[in-house]
Amino acid sequence: MTKPTLQSRLLNWYHKNKRTLPWRGHPDAYAVWVSEIMLQQTRVETVIPYFENWMRSFPNVEILSKASEHDVLNVWEGLGYYSRARNLHKAAKIVVVEYDGDLPQDLNLLIKLPGIGRYTAGAITSIAFGMDEPALDGNLKRVYARLYDISAPVDSPSGDRQLWEIARKNLPKGKAGDFNQALMDLGAAICVPKNPHCSICPLTANCKSYENGTQENRPVRKPKKAVPEFVHAAGVIIKRGKVLLAQRPSNGLLAGMWEFPNGRISGNPAKGLIKALKTGYSLNVQKKEAWGIVPHAYTHFKVSVHVYQCDLLSTSTAGNLKWVSARELGEYPMGKVDRRIAQMVSKFLSEQKTSR
Ligand code: ADE
Repeated sequence: MTKPTLQSRLLNWYHKNKRTLPWRGHPDAYAVWVSEIMLQQTRVETVIPYFENWMRSFPNVEILSKASEHDVLNVWEGLGYYSRARNLHKAAKIVVVEYDGDLPQDLNLLIKLPGIGRYTAGAITSIAFGMDEPALDGNLKRVYARLYDISAPVDSPSGDRQLWEIARKNLPKGKAGDFNQALMDLGAAICVPKNPHCSICPLTANCKSYENGTQENRPVRKPKKAVPEFVHAAGVIIKRGKVLLAQRPSNGLLAGMWEFPNGRISGNPAKGLIKALKTGYSLNVQKKEAWGIVPHAYTHFKVSVHVYQCDLLSTSTAGNLKWVSARELGEYPMGKVDRRIAQMVSKFLSEQKTSR
């Protein structure tokens, strides 16, 4: 009898153990595309309800292409990395105009679309179109770095090149979609980042790092740079049940989303707030009460936002500011920090009402 291959072992394991996920077996390449974009930086369990809500809100490329950016950001809110949503929206418009609403069945054309890189194009072509393409994200790189005991950092050009070659070489013809997803499920359930469950892994017989005892030391990564930590102060300015929001610029972090007027502070946050709101928004305010500190970690930095309720001393006409009633706050797309502050505002206003 011939020895089972890595491919047959993994596919057998997958057929018995694969996760039931709402985009699996979906007849529509659009669903695979949406799921892959959502899964780029977010865990499967978090993605599932967002995916279902998105597909109800924007069931096909054409409907998405016609949606407003405001609605797109609202449905995405909470998933983070909002450029993913904006790129999906931009790409949908291109797909409607250039490809009559159907994603092109071509890796190089897919990669030209906003937000679709080598990984996502590989995932879409293999899963949705049955093409023989590898798809390597961080999880699959970890699995292959262990299977082949790769000592080059996976985030270095040479490590990356080696791993893509390995991934291509391993594809079973005609089964790349299942094979790629089997590697994803193996990476999620067994070949996990810390303390991999080698005792129940179907691939130990094929695993060089298991043989060499190096699985805990794979994958190797380049040393991490220290992440800077910033202090911000934000002002909650309430007048007649309405609160003042500012819209962020249309480029960069959280582009076009809404926030409470705020600024980066180098010294005392309470004092810095007055100056920050004056220079950033031409707002003259007076601090009333400290509401607390909201911490948040972005990819490349961390912030602690000191929140103060303020009184407005003179009205401003800055174009990016808007008075919004507490009940409408949910309709304004915001990042995690500002949504937390919005919750503080709602709680404050409802307590004020009941104490009256
Ligand atoms: N992670 C990224 N893409 C995935 C998929 N299609 N299934 C499960 N996990 C994934």
